[in-house]
Amino acid sequence: MLKVAILGYGGIARSHRSGYEKLAELNAPVELVALCDIDPAQFTNVVTINQGGAGQGEGKAYRTYTDLEEMLEKEELDIIDICLPTYLHCTYTCDLLRRGYHVQCEKPMGLNREECAQMLKAAEESGKKLMIGMCLRFDGYYLALKELIDSGKYGKVESAYFERLSSMPAWGYDGWFHDYNRAGGVAMDMHIHDVDMIRYLFGEPKAVSALTNDARTKCTTIHSRFVYDDKLVFAIGDWGQSNSRRFNAGCRINFEKATFIMTGGAMTVYPDEGEPYALEPTTKNSHMAEESLFFARTILGELENDKNTPRDAAGSVALVTKLIESAENGGGMVEV
Ligand SMILES: NC(=O)c1ccc[n+]([C@@H]2O[C@H](COP(=O)([O-])OP(=O)(O)OC[C@H]3O[C@@H](n4cnc5c(N)ncnc54)[C@H](O)[C@@H]3O)[C@@H](O)[C@H]2O)c1
Repeated sequence: MLKVAILGYGGIARSHRSGYEKLAELNAPVELVALCDIDPAQFTNVVTINQGGAGQGEGKAYRTYTDLEEMLEKEELDIIDICLPTYLHCTYTCDLLRRGYHVQCEKPMGLNREECAQMLKAAEESGKKLMIGMCLRFDGYYLALKELIDSGKYGKVESAYFERLSSMPAWGYDGWFHDYNRAGGVAMDMHIHDVDMIRYLFGEPKAVSALTNDARTKCTTIHSRFVYDDKLVFAIGDWGQSNSRRFNAGCRINFEKATFIMTGGAMTVYPDEGEPYALEPTTKNSHMAEESLFFARTILGELENDKNTPRDAAGSVALVTKLIESAENGGGMVEV
């Protein structure tokens, strides 16, 4: 049984906790035992993030620590699940890997290519496993889409559009989401999910371009183009939506012989021949549960991590930096 502690018990950590609780029901070989956060109120606070939903508060069922050193001294841990704000990912990941822990770290891997390179080096030198929470790679909806694409059932993809829309994050430690230098704007924080999925589904584009606005913080909204020889791909990441509009994300894909639409938590295939039909996700488990189970199984040697390598996560950070580079230069093409 692998023992895990969550470091940083804020918004997304509650979804991680729910994921581990699901895995406990499934008798998976991984167990959440402790939570660490510098703010003790977080162990009982209710935090509502854009995604709404998954598990709120109730951290008190676990052993809790406000001091990382004390937790490491008192607990026998195999995995540290880092849910800290993005600007702390690199420092804590490198340190904990070098101290002999396997690390699952939330996305984005780091704020820039240099941080990602440091994290890759620390993982390599420590011999410990590192995985970044590019959670859509474990999401039953996106995996069903990937299966549909890979099956070739409706021919090739001709064009694709992805979107991930919300208001400015209203939660977060010390306002970090609103500070471009600590969060990287919507591009690095939220749009990166679609950037990573586009790379996962279609491979690395030849070039990218983007335009942004800075209405509420630097890079509030980003409109991105991904250049491929055989398909047209666009994506929008937006923190500029009204507070009264809930987070929503989805995509539209035109195949040669069908259109696929994911919206509002449902997927529909509209074939050229035959009636539209609902596509079912590949799993009913949350992507957090699937992600943590996958990581545990790679540590136990049951699986190779061939679907979400840290190098790939670094590649998505690198591609976001190219989108930003394009936006900062008026939207011109940047080769990849
Ligand atoms: N996978 C997803 O869909 C998803 C969604 C939201 C956020 N995230 C990512 O998860 C990470 C955390 O985001 P969040 O929304 O949970 O942020 P948050 O601000 O709500 O939570 C961060 C927590 O870390 C704690 N903290 C800060 N410094 C600390 C330190 N030095 N030691 C211990 N605890 C410390 C804070 O008190 C806070 O509780 C970010 O990188 C974010 O991009 C991912």
